[in-house]
Amino acid sequence: MKQPSLIKIHDKTFRIFLTEPELRKRIAEMGSSIKARFENKNPLFIVILNGAFMFASDLLKAVNIPCEIAFIRVSSYRGMESSGDLKESLDLQEDLRNRHVIVVEDIVDSGQTMAKLLDDFQAEQPASLSVASLLVKPEQMKTQVQIDFTGFEIPELFVVGYGLDYDGQGRYLKDIYQLKDD
Ligand code: IMP
Ligand code: MG
Repeated sequence: MKQPSLIKIHDKTFRIFLTEPELRKRIAEMGSSIKARFENKNPLFIVILNGAFMFASDLLKAVNIPCEIAFIRVSSYRGMESSGDLKESLDLQEDLRNRHVIVVEDIVDSGQTMAKLLDDFQAEQPASLSVASLLVKPEQMKTQVQIDFTGFEIPELFVVGYGLDYDGQGRYLKDIYQLKDD
């Protein structure tokens, strides 16, 4: 069934932005790039929950090489931005030392979440540390973080769907929708 071009979540209207076939095509390309760099290196993907669950599922099938997967759950306290305060509510059991680590994220906005995570992971002395993010909002970036594998660079407008939520809703959508300014 074709997706509606407009949807309503809570009090906001969103319009279709990236369709399922567009996502699939781009994720296949990202998968090939990651495969080319990490084949025979048994990389460890660290998936940032909740938002990246759907992307990670499709990305790992597209990469299609022997690898391991771990999950970490992070909530950023956006009200306390100054400290970039992060709560990791799921501790990593995996040993990152000498591993090729690829962090899988749904979206990098200010970059504060990623910068903090990368610091923590780097301290564990991985063999390499890279980032795959489906979406990046370059205009919003406040910290310098290197995104090694980017799906789409997008403008500063709130998006939902394909794992991303608006106040808990919209994660199940197959396509990505963008806030409609009326
Ligand atoms: P950052 O620390 O500002 O880069 O925030 C990253 C986190 O904020 C992401 O992991 C998302 O959970 C959330 N986020 C940022 N922008 C959006 C958006 O447009 N839609 C949904 N969630 C977003
Ligand atoms: Mg997230």
